[in-house]
Amino acid sequence: MTSPKVKLEDIEIQLLLEGIYRYWGYDFRNYAFSSLKRRVQNFIKIEGYTSVSELQARVLHDSNCLERFLLSLTVNVTSMFRDPSFYLALRKEVIPLLRTYPFIRIWHAGCSTGEEVYSMAILLQEENLYQRCRIYATDFNEKVLQKARTGIFSLKLMQDYTQLYLKAGGKESFSEYYTAAYDSAIFRASLRENIVFAQHNLATDSSFNEFHIIICRNVLIYFNQTLQKRVHELFYNSLCSFGILGLGRQESIRFTPHDHQYQELVKGEKLYRRLN
Ligand SMILES: C[S@@+](CC[C@H](N)C(=O)[O-])C[C@H]1O[C@@H](n2cnc3c(N)ncnc32)[C@H](O)[C@@H]1O
Repeated sequence: MTSPKVKLEDIEIQLLLEGIYRYWGYDFRNYAFSSLKRRVQNFIKIEGYTSVSELQARVLHDSNCLERFLLSLTVNVTSMFRDPSFYLALRKEVIPLLRTYPFIRIWHAGCSTGEEVYSMAILLQEENLYQRCRIYATDFNEKVLQKARTGIFSLKLMQDYTQLYLKAGGKESFSEYYTAAYDSAIFRASLRENIVFAQHNLATDSSFNEFHIIICRNVLIYFNQTLQKRVHELFYNSLCSFGILGLGRQESIRFTPHDHQYQELVKGEKLYRRLN
């Protein structure tokens, strides 16, 4: 049996999420509760509050506190060519399909600081398709998008990224894509030419175009089933016939209401093709 204290904290968190939604418009009410609760508790400790209610009073009145809170609530971890076999599968199985389109619209939903999007831009350049593409890279967090727009990442990471790039079937020398300056790697501006970085909230916003590919990796795992269902609905309705959906390692289309409307394109790589 849970203690009254624990129950009270759960109620406080629900009230906090309701307040943030009603006042600021950010909807965390259908995020997976246990991991969200851990993050709230952690934030309270770091900021030195004594209860969730104290945090609520603060976050509703202070936009700076809200900004810090938003960043602490979500996991923003990402990497270039994360799970390289996914990119290899894209190269081998998806690129030939894309070649049949005169113009290609791609949506990276929940793109975090952009590493995934730059990886896609590099892959498309190497396959001579980039000029035909428009990539929409979205996240609900403006802070991470600001970083993504700069195309500047830590130089320290470049050794690891080079290995991942090679495993992903990279064709050039990875260092061609960036210039080193002090401890930063500044990626070529030409990679950004056809990318639009914009705010979009998967919990509240609707579709904004029709896409040939939607990539949304390592985002749905943080949502409960209600929100996952909403997002699958959004993706299905935003994909063109025979469009491609790419999910993260621990995510799947299986057991969702749209299961039967997709065919698994590459086994194990979470790449699905809309059937009609
Ligand atoms: C773990 S990162 C994944 C980044 C990248 N897709 C990858 O796989 O490397 C999760 C991202 O989802 C974003 N996110 C969380 N909730 C969101 C929502 N409701 N709408 C849009 N993005 C959201 C977070 O801001 C974060 O940048």
